[in-house]
Amino acid sequence: MVNKIKLVDVSKVYEDNIKVETLKNINLEFEQGKFISISGHSGIGKSTLLFIIGGLIDATGGDVFYNDRKLRDFSPKEMDGFRATEMSFIFQEYQFVQALNLRDNLALSANTNTTLNHVELESRIDEYLKRLNLFERKLFLPSQLSGGQKRRAMFIAGIIKDSNFILADEPTNDLDDEMVREMMAIINEEKEKGRGVVLVTHNEELTQNADMKYSLKSGLLSPI
Ligand SMILES: Nc1ncnc2c1ncn2[C@@H]1O[C@H](COP(=O)(O)OP(=O)(O)OP(=O)(O)O)[C@@H](O)[C@H]1O
Ligand SMILES: [Mg+2]
Repeated sequence: MVNKIKLVDVSKVYEDNIKVETLKNINLEFEQGKFISISGHSGIGKSTLLFIIGGLIDATGGDVFYNDRKLRDFSPKEMDGFRATEMSFIFQEYQFVQALNLRDNLALSANTNTTLNHVELESRIDEYLKRLNLFERKLFLPSQLSGGQKRRAMFIAGIIKDSNFILADEPTNDLDDEMVREMMAIINEEKEKGRGVVLVTHNEELTQNADMKYSLKSGLLSPI
């Protein structure tokens, strides 16, 4: 079965201290096996949009559908399952457990949804660590990694989980060309395996293989 995500008239207003209107009227539909890109200025609402798609925060208006069912109608247990098995995040900010080394952090990310046994998972982690030039840092703590190393590690943490969709939030920022190429190769492989990919990026080169490209501006999403 090919799973689908659909956003209908989604809006988001943050009302913590000061009211911030971000997304106004977002309509978007995509499915597994497709790669879509979203670009837009800093502070425009790209991360907010990814968080809403992945069920981490609620929209203030409109609806997100997963296969024709509204996320709003999911029970708390179903939402937990949705976040654990359907969605993987490559977060823009680092989200590692400080007391665990890199290997254990990656294993923890995978363990929310993996069919691999301990030995298979370790070898999968090793494979990605080698491809992104991090294998020598496998037993390092997050605090012992450089900024770029942490970013590459966050990328692996998002990819390693066996989910239907990958939501990647500017994963290539500040990385050199070789590492960016490797990340894009991995993203394309995951797409070919049938995963859906949403990539938020400022880098137009990375959107060349996208099935659909969007730009987010003034709270609205338009195809490029
Ligand atoms: N929890 C929050 N409470 C209030 N305002 C918020 C909150 N989170 C984000 N915002 C505001 O919403 C707007 C969109 O933020 P968001 O992080 O989605 O932008 P972005 O497009 O991902 O930016 P960047 O490219 O810099 O990562 C910003 O103006 C931000 O200040
Ligand atoms: Mg962001």
